Amino acid sequence: MWSYIVLSVVLGPSLAVASPSIANRAQIVGRDVQLLNTYDYVIVGAGAAGLTVANRLSEDPKVNVLVLEAGDLDHGEDEILIPRYALGAPGKYFYNIPSVPLPGLNNRSELLTSGKVVGGGTAVNGMFMPRGAKGDYDIWKELGNPGWGWSDLLPYFIKSETFTPPSAALATEFEITYDMRYHGTKGPVQSSYPPFLYPAVKLFLRAIRQFGSHVPYDYASGDALGAYWAPNTLDPVSRTRSYARTAYYDPIKSRSNLHLLPNNTVTNIIFNGKTATGVKFSNAKEAPIQSVSACREVIIAAGAPHTPQLLQLSGVGPKKLLNSFGIPIVSDLPGVGANFHDHAYIFTAGSVAHDLNPSPTNTSNTTWMAEQLILYQTKREGVYTTSLGNSAAFLPLNEITSLSNTIINGLRSQNPQAVFPVGTDSSIIAGWKATRDLLIKYTQQGKIAAREFIGGTGASMGLVLLKPFSRGSLTIKSKEAFDDPVVDFGTLRNPLDLDVMTEMIKAWRRMLLTPALQTMGSAAISPADNITSTADLQAFVRANLAASLWHPSGSAPMMKKELGGVVGPDLLVYGTKGLSIIDASILPICPSTHITTTMYAVAEKAADIIKLRAKTSP
Ligand SMILES: Cc1cc2nc3c(=O)[nH]c(=O)nc-3n(C[C@H](O)[C@H](O)[C@H](O)COP(=O)(O)OP(=O)(O)OC[C@H]3O[C@@H](n4cnc5c(N)ncnc54)[C@H](O)[C@@H]3O)c2cc1C
Ligand SMILES: *[C@@H]1O[C@H](CO)[C@@H](O)[C@H](O)[C@H]1NC(C)=O
Ligand SMILES: *[C@@H]1O[C@H](CO)[C@@H](O)[C@H](O)[C@H]1NC(C)=O
Ligand SMILES: *[C@@H]1O[C@H](CO)[C@@H](O)[C@H](O)[C@H]1NC(C)=O
Ligand SMILES: *[C@@H]1O[C@H](CO)[C@@H](O)[C@H](O)[C@H]1NC(C)=O
Ligand SMILES: *[C@@H]1O[C@H](CO)[C@@H](O)[C@H](O)[C@H]1NC(C)=O
Repeated sequence: MWSYIVLSVVLGPSLAVASPSIANRAQIVGRDVQLLNTYDYVIVGAGAAGLTVANRLSEDPKVNVLVLEAGDLDHGEDEILIPRYALGAPGKYFYNIPSVPLPGLNNRSELLTSGKVVGGGTAVNGMFMPRGAKGDYDIWKELGNPGWGWSDLLPYFIKSETFTPPSAALATEFEITYDMRYHGTKGPVQSSYPPFLYPAVKLFLRAIRQFGSHVPYDYASGDALGAYWAPNTLDPVSRTRSYARTAYYDPIKSRSNLHLLPNNTVTNIIFNGKTATGVKFSNAKEAPIQSVSACREVIIAAGAPHTPQLLQLSGVGPKKLLNSFGIPIVSDLPGVGANFHDHAYIFTAGSVAHDLNPSPTNTSNTTWMAEQLILYQTKREGVYTTSLGNSAAFLPLNEITSLSNTIINGLRSQNPQAVFPVGTDSSIIAGWKATRDLLIKYTQQGKIAAREFIGGTGASMGLVLLKPFSRGSLTIKSKEAFDDPVVDFGTLRNPLDLDVMTEMIKAWRRMLLTPALQTMGSAAISPADNITSTADLQAFVRANLAASLWHPSGSAPMMKKELGGVVGPDLLVYGTKGLSIIDASILPICPSTHITTTMYAVAEKAADIIKLRAKTSP
């Protein structure tokens, strides 16, 4: 864990935090007022999606909105605000749920980590800010979700951001190109390049061209295939993290019609028949349970790891599972908790004989780092302005391997039933078949990236499985909301994912041999070059693959009900009234990118959908 450093300039937003509550007296942040009994909207979870929608709905002063958040407010800690410390936030701001043993990974248990703090994942994440490619969103639409394609979402990507272009000097030196038609200039989330970038990335971009891929002019344009520079969720002036709290909540927290209650976990959705009328919530496992009503809509934004749990506890989920816990059924939906997937990855290790200056290895020079810290404190420059990196490559399958057609044919001839556990509901299998057929089509057309190279500052790179063919599940293990759900990532359950990962290792080796990377003398360390047989490569993958790049998705997907869907394109939960979902659990197929900007855009669109239905059915 990072040690605290004293910074006079970086202060958390000043907050009149409510005084410690007496017993269970609910206090609202910033104001010493009681909770109302009834709100128009109750939002569960103050993460990326929850705060976006809370902001937009409360624009109308006549609309009352309550946001309930399981985690605390951060206190402006350096580990939250300073880019260099990204991923180093205090443990209390995270959920860390151990998975079941994963047979695909030698029975290893892997952690499902997500944010538990106002801002959710955006408060604790790596601040890397790319978008998906056009095909990543068009595939949702084609799966049966009108209104959710790239051209439908682009206005919302633009609405959510304020993009500050790199300075002319930075753009020239590092060959960064951008097109303002695809960027916002008035949105809440700050998007900018740190003034400190690693020169080796220029070689990485060159290597990608030599490898046979391309460098798009602007990743934000829908051409997000190939290798590129991407900005951070970074305030261009204070050079601190821009996250859902600073973007969507702090600027409007004085609205009297918006209440935020941190430290409170929603335990159940209250139904009157099929209509959601409110929620129950509690401060701790032992604490009393309170309730609050929603007269228009209960909006679930608890994140992909927890949304299925809340639904299942409330009687919305697979009948068989709910019956086994004696939970009365409100809506029998086999898809709640199914279709769960994430981006698995391996970090390979490599060496460079002639490193460029500066390089990531310089950060182990304590003298230099002390100088850099002073530079950050005094001028907001240097290595402390950047988080984990600003470049990556997102490659279609046929650019990674000549076996692309073999893998696709394997996928096409696979019996969908065979890649799910015995007893899986037929709608889930039908949903996978529909998903698979579109993945085949988009892969053959080269419209989606299958794999990502993270890094680009040397020979060590992350190899990410962007479009996994495997699916896992999330299910309750008790009737207690404070117990973790059972997490099964399902990693490598589909053997074709293993084939793609081994091809990815071979592709990494070919990348290291490009003339551009050879100018640095790049070489592999792990996996070593002598690991060549299929069996040895597969063993390496099973032993080293991490199940989650923290992009859990799809666990309550926006799909047709007969395909195992949970919400339709209107985001309303099938078989219920007044209940919607807006977080990453609705993404039917995780985009081939890091998903924060997607969640902001999805939530901006969700807010318009919810506003519109209030207008049309008052
Ligand atoms: C460590 C880490 C690194 C990441 N790095 C990047 C990156 O560099 N780039 C990128 O684009 N993406 C990154 N991500 C992913 C990104 O942050 C998430 O995908 C995004 O925040 C998801 O948004 P969401 O609204 O679906 O859920 P979240 O932002 O996770 O919000 C869900 C909120 O609901 C709350 N909650 C859960 N259950 C309940 C309940 N029962 N009652 C009340 N509240 C509840 C949670 O505490 C949380 O605050 C990272 C994520 C993590 C965890
Ligand atoms: C949340 O709970 C923690 C731990 O009890 C406490 O320190 C913090 O002040 C609480 N936050 C709010 C906003 O009440
Ligand atoms: C994983 O566990 C299962 C069930 O206990 C066992 O059958 C299997 O052999 C184990 N696999 C490995 C690689 O250890
Ligand atoms: C940074 O690393 C490079 C390459 O290893 C080295 O030449 C240079 O001296 C280092 N600079 C500092 C300040 O540590
Ligand atoms: C470490 O950084 C200091 C200060 O920049 C520099 O003088 C020194 O040469 C660096 N050491 C190495 C080994 O590069
Ligand atoms: C690869 O080489 C290393 C040492 O150079 C050795 O320990 C290892 O067993 C070799 N692996 C294979 C698969 O040959």
